[in-house]
Amino acid sequence: MLIAVPGMLDAGGVTRVRSIIDDAAWIDGNATSGHQSALAKQNVQLPEASAEAREAGALVLDALTISAEFVAAALPAKVYPPLFSRYAPGDAFANHVDAAVRLRRGSDFRVRSDLSATLFLEPPDAYDGGELVIEDLFGEQRIKLAAGDLVLYPASSVHRVAPITRGRRVAAFFWIQSMVRDDGARRILFDLDRSVQDVAGRLGADADVTIRLTGTYHNLLRRWVDA
Ligand code: NI
Repeated sequence: MLIAVPGMLDAGGVTRVRSIIDDAAWIDGNATSGHQSALAKQNVQLPEASAEAREAGALVLDALTISAEFVAAALPAKVYPPLFSRYAPGDAFANHVDAAVRLRRGSDFRVRSDLSATLFLEPPDAYDGGELVIEDLFGEQRIKLAAGDLVLYPASSVHRVAPITRGRRVAAFFWIQSMVRDDGARRILFDLDRSVQDVAGRLGADADVTIRLTGTYHNLLRRWVDA
C-alpha cells in the first residue's frame, strides 16, 4: 500500500530541518548502501552519525510520533533514525529493493524494513525530475510531493529516484518496522480506522455503532499485532 501523509512536517519544521542540514558536510551516498544499491546510486547524504543528521532526524521523529495519520498507517514498532539525501543534476538512484534489515552502525539497533518512507524537503517546482518511482501491482507510481509531505510504501517494492535535470532534490528517508508485519492486514486496519473516524464524526464517539466498529478494529489488531 502506498500512502501519502500531507503536512507531516509543517513549513516551520521544514525550514528548521533545512537550516540544520544545508551547510553540513555531505558525503557520497554509497556510504549507506548495501551491495545491490551501491551499484545504482548517485547522490550525497549526511553521515548517519553526524550531529546535523541526529538533530534533524530527531525533529522528524518527533513530528512522526504526533501524527495520527502516520501512526494509523504505519502502526510503527521501531523507526530507523532518518537519513538525509540530496540529488543534483545528473544524480539518480536506479531500480532497487531496500535491504530487509537495517542495523545501525556501532549499535545493536536493528529494524526490519516493512515500510519505506520518504519525506520531501524541497518544493517540487524547485527541481525537475527526481520523482520517486515505485512499481506496484497497478504499474508505476511517480511521486513528487510538497515539502513537508511524506510517502509510505512497501519496502519490498522495486523503486528508484528519477534523474534530476534542474535544481536539487533534498529529502529524508527511513524505514519502519510495523507492529503489523503483513501489508494487506495493515491496509485493512488503516481503512477500518478511517471509517471509524468518519462514523465517529457523524454519529458521535459514544454511538453504539462507533463503539462496535472500534471494538472490531482492536480485535483485528489483537489478532495481527506483534507488540
Ligand atoms: Ni530505496
